[in-house]
Amino acid sequence: MPKPLIDAARDLSSRFAGRAAHWDRTRSYPWENVAALQEAGLMGATVPQAYGGRGAGLQDILPVIEEIAKACTLTARIFVEGNMGAISAVMAYGSAVQKARCAALVLAGEKPAICISEPDAGSAASQMTTTARRDGTGYVLNGTKHWITGGGVSKLHLIFARVLSDTGLEQGIGAFIVVCDPSKGEMPEGFKVVGRETTMGLRGMPEATLSFENLRVDAEMALLPAGGFADLMSAYNTQRVGAGAIAMGVAAGATQHAIRYLKERHQFGRPIAEFQGLQWMLADMETGVSAARLLLQDAALSADTFPDPTKAAKAKLFASETAIKVVNDALQMFGARGYSDREPLERMYRDVRMFTIGGGTAQVLRTQIASRALGQKLPQTRDGHMLQAEPLAAE
Ligand code: FAD
Ligand code: COA
Repeated sequence: MPKPLIDAARDLSSRFAGRAAHWDRTRSYPWENVAALQEAGLMGATVPQAYGGRGAGLQDILPVIEEIAKACTLTARIFVEGNMGAISAVMAYGSAVQKARCAALVLAGEKPAICISEPDAGSAASQMTTTARRDGTGYVLNGTKHWITGGGVSKLHLIFARVLSDTGLEQGIGAFIVVCDPSKGEMPEGFKVVGRETTMGLRGMPEATLSFENLRVDAEMALLPAGGFADLMSAYNTQRVGAGAIAMGVAAGATQHAIRYLKERHQFGRPIAEFQGLQWMLADMETGVSAARLLLQDAALSADTFPDPTKAAKAKLFASETAIKVVNDALQMFGARGYSDREPLERMYRDVRMFTIGGGTAQVLRTQIASRALGQKLPQTRDGHMLQAEPLAAE
């Protein structure tokens, strides 16, 4: 009988917390944590049992994300991407061959890279220009993806591209599974890692630019090549829930640090916990974390079908904005000490800042939520012009 996932995470969390500053300072990838997650059965835990996983649901995974994120944001991202996002898309829409191949990789500890964003198509992801042209027994990919989390260390890539027939007719957006090992220089012809960002937080995680020049992909590795952007984004909602849960976990961790310090630090002859100004800040922090947790649970419960895709958007939006505020307030409670690396708060603050940007910005998520509430497609997410809104077809 395998250990419950949450117990496995608790066993590892103090080890993860102890090395979090090291990965940040050295900007190095935490391979030893990846191995620990894999050994504990935490990578690929959402993979169905038929493919060797534990078939864990998102609601089972949320407390695990929170536990790991309190200790190390970087490791929580690896855990999330080893269980959600790309792997969710393959498990939802892939062929048996694709599922078996990808499941084996994540169960062996792989954190897949999901490749959507491009230099000229970030929020406007549907305007991507990477193409996959049908050619004989496969497809030929050309284009550039940037801000690819894990680019250069991940082996499994899910590359979104505009699919073209052999005569150049557009079929819609599909995705292509490419397996290679850039960290060992084992790359197929036409696939290059061409740059890495220097980031504010989550410094141990490569954010890379990948280029594809006549990269050949076997047809067997094409996912929804007849055009499946809506389905792919629907599967991507799992990663949005995961990202929100990381942000909430970091906020919960920062709150715990703050509570410790409120009792420890004395000014004006008493613990600073006795100052009402800080007590009320703490009350708002606690309330924000609890509210975020509930929204995430609600989104996770509907994860199998996502009848309302805005549940993931609302949960990520609220959790990410709340987390930035909570971590900032926790840092404030430490005074100057919070601004130094003697405490983890300054790292947590830098780490958590990305969650209103990556995986759909706060503005784009608000647009998605408003569009659903109004029952209208809002054209500002289409052509870059504020055109008149078109009514949605009746459901
Ligand atoms: P832009 O789209 O250029 O937006 C600029 C500003 O305009 C933002 O404030 C935005 O909110 C606003 N804006 C844009 N459109 C609208 C609108 N219609 N209405 C109102 N405001 C609008 N991508 C991947 O594919 N894979 C990854 O693994 C990945 N990992 C990432 C990790 C990190 C740490 C970060 C920071 C990004 C990552 N991304 C990844 C890219 C991420 O998804 C994009 O950064 C995001 O979608 C926003 O795109 P952009 O940065 O080009 O901003
Ligand atoms: N969940 C479920 N379905 C979704 C979805 C989501 N999160 N986002 C989009 N869709 C569906 C839409 O319902 C629509 O379906 P339909 O064709 O059946 O009507 C289809 O996908 C296209 O969506 P639409 O909003 O019309 O797309 P758009 O061309 O205006 O593009 C997005 C807007 C989707 C690109 C934008 O809202 C967005 O999410 N940008 C952020 C991209 C991102 O998260 N990148 C992360 C990279 S890691």
